[in-house]
Amino acid sequence: MTELVRPQTPGEAPEAMAERPSGRRASQGGTVIDRTSLAGRDYIETADWSVSEIDEALAVAAELKDRFRRGDPHRLLPDKTLFMLFLDKSTRTRNAFEAGMTQLGGHAHYLDAEKTQAAHGESPKDMGIILASYGHGIAIRHDLIPYEGNAYLREVARWAGVPVINLQCDVDHPTQTLADLMTLRELRGGNLRGMRIAVSWAYAPSYAKPLSVPQGLATLLPRFGLDVVIAHPPGFDLMPETRAKAEEAARQGGGSVTYTQDMDEAFSGADVVYPKSWGRLDAFSGESEALAESAAYRDWICDARRMSLAAPEALYMHCLPADRGNEVTDEVIDGPQSVVYQEAENRLHTGKAILALTMADAPERGRPEHAEGWEATSP
Ligand code: CP
Repeated sequence: MTELVRPQTPGEAPEAMAERPSGRRASQGGTVIDRTSLAGRDYIETADWSVSEIDEALAVAAELKDRFRRGDPHRLLPDKTLFMLFLDKSTRTRNAFEAGMTQLGGHAHYLDAEKTQAAHGESPKDMGIILASYGHGIAIRHDLIPYEGNAYLREVARWAGVPVINLQCDVDHPTQTLADLMTLRELRGGNLRGMRIAVSWAYAPSYAKPLSVPQGLATLLPRFGLDVVIAHPPGFDLMPETRAKAEEAARQGGGSVTYTQDMDEAFSGADVVYPKSWGRLDAFSGESEALAESAAYRDWICDARRMSLAAPEALYMHCLPADRGNEVTDEVIDGPQSVVYQEAENRLHTGKAILALTMADAPERGRPEHAEGWEATSP
């Protein structure tokens, strides 16, 4: 990954970076890290990476965005293979990572879980060991069953000898929230300390959406000093484990996480609003009943009146897909404060940064010492 092993200081142009000989740089937090130290790492929750490592990923994403826009080839992963297993639908994530691997000089296999033996119950251990023996990275979306997806990814990672990347699980959506943080920095500068973001539940009749985006924002942004206000109707609480992690993130990063059951209160004075639907934790097994009950909160919509409660220049964010007319009005999502397409574009650049940092020049993880049964599946 020689092209990424270049130093930079914040604000320095990518061209200048190429002239420096060393592989070390100072992150925004002032901690010096070596980019190659991320080779071979999993990316399952943002909490698994330090603030300096996340800063580094964002710096690489900015470089790759610049190079993509200039048409400058950046084949940092030549001949490498990523296996992408999706247990849920996707527009942005699948295409950002598939296109991203092509642009990095490698290839991504799209694995529809229903068309693999995962549908017949093949174990994450067997799949992890075997796919790792065919390629260089495994990426998984497993987001629709609370308390299953994250555990599944971590089990694959325990056995696979290659990086495992979370393309959204029940707990976190770390490639989305990284793109959101990149978007905020592009629009509001590198220091987001003291900025107030309202992450609110919003009504959507389409399906019980995972909790991973609000949970991912609550556990990431306070580490960068933001004040996160989570708003939701009664019963739509985040997972207790996530609430504890968010409190710890706020303690470490100097931000805060607070909760309210009043969408207007959350919006009042907010610098950023991020209203989106998520399912009640007990909704994922009996979806139609829970969806019907959520209709009692149909008025939890982001409209022009609610936007007027926020700060005058407040940003409107959404990971997409949005339920237009339910979560948000067309007037708001198509309006001047909306940055949803910039967020979506940044999925590509941040995704490529994670791929390049974790998969390029990854040291052989080798055979996990605890991988009983490895010999039986290895030549
Ligand atoms: N935001 C997001 O993850 O979009 P997709 O579900 O389309 O991948």
